Amino acid sequence: MRKNFGPKPFLFPQPVMIIGTYDENGKANAMNAAWGGIVGTDEIIIDLSSHKTTDNILLNKAFTVSVADVEHMTACDYVGIVSANKEPDKMEKAGFTTTKSGFVNAPVINELPLTLECELIDVIDGSKFLGKIKNVSIDENVLGEDGELSLEKFSPITYDTVHYGYYRLGEKVGNAFKDGAALK
Ligand SMILES: Cc1cc2nc3c(=O)[nH]c(=O)nc-3n(C[C@H](O)[C@H](O)[C@H](O)COP(=O)(O)O)c2cc1C
Repeated sequence: MRKNFGPKPFLFPQPVMIIGTYDENGKANAMNAAWGGIVGTDEIIIDLSSHKTTDNILLNKAFTVSVADVEHMTACDYVGIVSANKEPDKMEKAGFTTTKSGFVNAPVINELPLTLECELIDVIDGSKFLGKIKNVSIDENVLGEDGELSLEKFSPITYDTVHYGYYRLGEKVGNAFKDGAALK
């Protein structure tokens, strides 16, 4: 037997994305966003209602997407429950510092190791922000010996849309494009 839940946003693992933007004075902001994901090798869509972040994206036509990790979980949640419209010291309170992206007019959050630096392409149906990934920058501390991102060193969190928890990813269980071949 299966139980029906109707239309729910239940897709797992759900990424926790931290959107970085600059305001009209060049002040950095960050917000937490779950509703989105990769839609092509260099494209991403994030569904956003009205926030300081959306004003900033429309102003600069740019944003960054950093992946929330276990180490910064509390700060990542904080930027999802407090708006820069109400708290001017939001970034300081989160403990986030930033460096301007060398590719788009948006801030890279220094503390979060993995960042997609994106240019706004379009806003679809008024809320789906489609971005082109112009660059990805990764802190060398989470690179493996092959020079690529290592999930042994980087611990992204995933959002539990049922009970609103944050979970860490588990251990490696297989190899893509390979293990399925056993059933050929
Ligand atoms: C786990 C989590 C996920 C969220 N996902 C989204 C989302 O996908 N879209 C959205 O518009 N807001 C989302 N929010 C809410 C914003 O992060 C929140 O309103 C934030 O304060 C906006 O900040 P700003 O006004 O400084 O831009 C989420 C919040 C949390 C805690």
